[in-house]
Amino acid sequence: MNNVLEKLDSYSELPAYPVLLAKLDQMLRDPNSSIKMFADLLRTDAALVGRLLRIANSVWFSAGRSEVFSLNDAIGRLGIVQLRRVVYGSYLSSQFANNGVVNHTEFWRHSLSVAILAQRLALLRHDLKALNPDQVYIGGLFHDIGIIIFAIIELKKYRAIVGNAATQDLSLDELELKEFGVSHADIGAEFIMRHWGVNSDIGMAVKYHHNPFEAPIESRPIAIAIHLSNSFCNNEGISNGVSIPHSIFLEGAWEYLGLTLEDALVIYEDVKDSVAESELMIAN
Ligand SMILES: [Fe+2]
Ligand SMILES: [Fe+2]
Repeated sequence: MNNVLEKLDSYSELPAYPVLLAKLDQMLRDPNSSIKMFADLLRTDAALVGRLLRIANSVWFSAGRSEVFSLNDAIGRLGIVQLRRVVYGSYLSSQFANNGVVNHTEFWRHSLSVAILAQRLALLRHDLKALNPDQVYIGGLFHDIGIIIFAIIELKKYRAIVGNAATQDLSLDELELKEFGVSHADIGAEFIMRHWGVNSDIGMAVKYHHNPFEAPIESRPIAIAIHLSNSFCNNEGISNGVSIPHSIFLEGAWEYLGLTLEDALVIYEDVKDSVAESELMIAN
């Protein structure tokens, strides 16, 4: 087995799947869960409560209504369907310490913006079964997580790679493959599937987010949605904090999802909203 993947299995300091998210997932599956039960769970994290209130009062959710001040009201306004998305987005970034290798804020702004945008894109094709908006969102959120994992388990070598990335002709993936034999897409996918129990449709989409047409057929639509959103965000300067100068859309990607030029323009208009929403999720 590849050395880095072996290390991934034996490394004890990787964050465990957050208990709060596990409990939230469980509650979301239970039809008897009430707003009060969700509020009691989420209230245990003060920073999260602040973010949820801010998001519930944002232009996207308030729709001109009066301000909400309590967590119960914020959850009521977001609705149970949005709750998972907003909690995952707001909570996850705080579970990974700032590693000093990658700019923490830039990294999470990129990951969240890609997730939000990819979900919006999926909602345009909600008739496509393989493009479940929730799965697309989670995939977007995790697509570059391998960068953080590298920075944890191969700190010294990875710091050197990131430090030199801007001056190299090779892409980040190519530099990673040269040094470790695996890329951030590979290691990120292994991490979320093996350590966090994320399903393989999402895992494979993460693994192939740079070459989505090679993804297994079930994961291909998710991988393509992430690829398109990733390129949009990079081109708008919302990069992952490492080095992505300019990102192209792979030929045939829009067509594969049955999206038209008009759809692309709608998505393009959504980029700024996605970034603004992501900033609310990571703000302290
Ligand atoms: Fe990536
Ligand atoms: Fe990315």
